[in-house]
Amino acid sequence: MTAITLTVNGRALSADTTPRTHMADFLRESQGLTGTHIGCEHGVCGACTIEINGEISRACITYAVACEGTEIRTIEAFDDDALMIRLRAAFTAEHALQCGYCTPGMLIAARDLIRRRGTLTVPEIRTEMSGNLCRCTGYAGIIRAISRVMVEVADETSSPIRGNGWLGPAPGPTSRAAIPPAHRQDADRKRMPAASSAASHTLLPSREIKVLTGPIRIDGATTKVTQSFVVEQPIARVWLLLTNLEAVVPCMPGAVLDGGPGADGTFSAHLALRLGPIRTTFAGDGKFTRDDAARSCRIEGRGRDRSGPSSVIGDVTYRAIELSETSTRVEADIGYSLSGPLAQFGRPGLVHGLVTHVGETFARNLDAAAAGRAPTSSKDNELGAVSLLWSLLTGWFHRLTTRT
Ligand code: FES
Ligand code: FES
Repeated sequence: MTAITLTVNGRALSADTTPRTHMADFLRESQGLTGTHIGCEHGVCGACTIEINGEISRACITYAVACEGTEIRTIEAFDDDALMIRLRAAFTAEHALQCGYCTPGMLIAARDLIRRRGTLTVPEIRTEMSGNLCRCTGYAGIIRAISRVMVEVADETSSPIRGNGWLGPAPGPTSRAAIPPAHRQDADRKRMPAASSAASHTLLPSREIKVLTGPIRIDGATTKVTQSFVVEQPIARVWLLLTNLEAVVPCMPGAVLDGGPGADGTFSAHLALRLGPIRTTFAGDGKFTRDDAARSCRIEGRGRDRSGPSSVIGDVTYRAIELSETSTRVEADIGYSLSGPLAQFGRPGLVHGLVTHVGETFARNLDAAAAGRAPTSSKDNELGAVSLLWSLLTGWFHRLTTRT
């Protein structure tokens, strides 16, 4: 046995350990700190991530005796850490955990990433977090949660996290700051499961956003329409969301991102629609590109009706335009072509109402995401589309029948 002295979660301690005992076993078995999980014991999965002298490390490939004189922080030490409180709330809101086995390591690595790199794109977050594996494969929610916190803190110049120099190298365990009461209140509110809590919707209702929809134009087989709306958010915050496909897609009623975007921008997704009594899902793939100089993004996609022969091909190009320090206009050019039985729903009267409804829901959700509020739930989104479409369809059938 070898005697070691070190500090664990702010507590100085001396202990005897064998030269072969790794830090994860030492923490779990001699100190009872079982928040440090063990997955692979090969330094691959990141479940055992801890901080050693302020740097994240893999406890399973670090001998305890090699930590003589160091300061260790495990997940149990982050209860009152302001950035970790935000991350926990975001993980809850974005459903970023299933069994939770990877979660302590994910949280410590994510906190370290935000401190070191600030705001990143989704592909960058994926690359940076690739050293942490989730056996439940819940990566989409994890990336969304990290991205959400990055957006939240991006322009909070008065944030106590940033005020303490949260960007840059991790400052180490001794610099842990208590959360000021005002921020703790804010953090406690964010701790609520925003995406699923009706209460949070009551406390922080979505704002209605006026959407301007241009006339429907038919260009060959393609239906075209333009839309614009203004959100009372700074352009940096809006642009950060608009360039994050994992943030953009959930703002669309009924849309779900199934995979990607990859490094080349390709992704797969599906869109669930209820057209009155007709229930259908278009599934397909697409490509996402961005032009940072023009603050413009383009999404192209094609999909097939899972339960029938209909198909759709379409694209949307959207731009963010700064109106003032706190106000941004989003403009979109939308084009699509429907074929098969569902093409009958491409009539201009129906399309105008549907596009306006979808645009309003999208704008409301984007504004909520930018402000850190809960979006309209996908269920509500779908129901909204149902009632709207149903009223449009009944109106359309009524006009048809009264004409004959
Ligand atoms: S248990 Fe340490 S990296 Fe997997
Ligand atoms: S949530 Fe189960 S391993 Fe990640």
